[in-house]
Amino acid sequence: MKISVIGCGYLGTVHAACLAELGHDVIGIDVDQAKVDLLSAGRPPFYEPGLPELLRSAMASGRLAFSSDIAAVAGSRVHFVAVGTPQLANSNAADVGYVDAAVESLLPHLAPGDLVVGKSTVPVGTAERLADVVTEGAPGARLAWNPEFLREGFAVKDTVAPDRLVYGIAAGDSTAEALLDEVYATAVGNGTPRVVTNYATAELVKVSANAFLATKISFINAMAEVAEATGADVTQLADAIGYDARIGRRFLNAGLGFGGGCLPKDIRGFMARAEELGVDQALSFLHEVDAINLRRRERMVDLTREVLGGQLDGKRITVLGLAFKPDSDDVRDSPALDVAVRLAELGAEVVASDPQAVETARRRYPQLRYLADVEDAVRGADAVLLLTEWKEYRDLDPDRVGSLVARKSILDGRNCLDPVQWRAAGWQYRALGRP
Ligand code: UGA
Repeated sequence: MKISVIGCGYLGTVHAACLAELGHDVIGIDVDQAKVDLLSAGRPPFYEPGLPELLRSAMASGRLAFSSDIAAVAGSRVHFVAVGTPQLANSNAADVGYVDAAVESLLPHLAPGDLVVGKSTVPVGTAERLADVVTEGAPGARLAWNPEFLREGFAVKDTVAPDRLVYGIAAGDSTAEALLDEVYATAVGNGTPRVVTNYATAELVKVSANAFLATKISFINAMAEVAEATGADVTQLADAIGYDARIGRRFLNAGLGFGGGCLPKDIRGFMARAEELGVDQALSFLHEVDAINLRRRERMVDLTREVLGGQLDGKRITVLGLAFKPDSDDVRDSPALDVAVRLAELGAEVVASDPQAVETARRRYPQLRYLADVEDAVRGADAVLLLTEWKEYRDLDPDRVGSLVARKSILDGRNCLDPVQWRAAGWQYRALGRP
């Protein structure tokens, strides 16, 4: 099928490349010419495992191209809208301006029978409003909402083999359902569960899934606070409650909390929308989820000060990890980068490192000192903070690192090291939620 994807950010680029790999003929559109040039040369503008190979193979097949000219969508039957919905600067609400602009820009190029498919995460009610914009602006064209659940670091796998498909369609629009089944023929053929529903449900599935995940993380981080006050070990607590299949162990890793371009802004946008709808009480717990999450960063700064004898000024601190999670170069709302910047602002001499995110972090905070090589970064440190659990950090050898630092103090912000091993090598080991 001929398909267009509007917006070549994280979501759109992966979606376009995967659809081409699955046999469709795909045109990716972005207003940013520099991004289009990079993608046309087969180079993704961000780090995602497996994506460069996929992009090259899809482009070599002749089934994937990129353009900054929206007119290039002509002839496509399905048009995915995958632009960003960032948090507004002065409120908790999501900015749907890019989604509105993308749909408007499509209108003159739509033919009767075309399907516009929203993928962006939007406040509930957006699809209903845009469905009218599409039917009025392009008679015979229709709209569906098809949220995406991919995780950074696993984006290709999640897109090719999703754990569920959700189609939000207008009542009785069986053509939209059939078109989406054709787009996702491989996944549908593999028995992927499909939920066909109305617009509001589809929009809510997306934000409520992220709200649930954020709540799970903040729940275990709340337990970490209690563990710290009582001498309990939150990692063992998570293992023990996680054996209950109703609870499950996944997303119960206590530590520095959640960040990234999705969970934080989605729970805030959800609360803002609930307030508009007069159901803010229903989501008031999300304020606490957000607050618990932000407190973890505060706690990490306090713990570092404590370990350094109450004084941060002039202390040499190495921060390992800047990305909001491993296998990504994304530093949007990254807890690790936030802690690094706070420590520097408090007078510490911070050296920050990350296997992939040094450049993205440097663009945001040029004032920090960055060293890409781990050994260079830890040399002479008074304290080492492990804040993003990259494999190469989890596998660090305490003896080797111990020979490079000034003081053997390690703060494990992700509970990903073995305290017994590090203590045996002469380190002072501290973590969040562990004795
Ligand atoms: C999240 C969701 O997991 C995806 O399903 C969703 O599609 C995506 O947002 C989105 O809305 O686009 P992502 O932002 O890639 O995906 O990252 P997650 O894997 O959810 O991790 C988010 C944050 O939570 C990271 O900072 C991670 O370190 C933290 N986390 C995760 C914990 O602190 N503890 C855990 O147990 C798990």
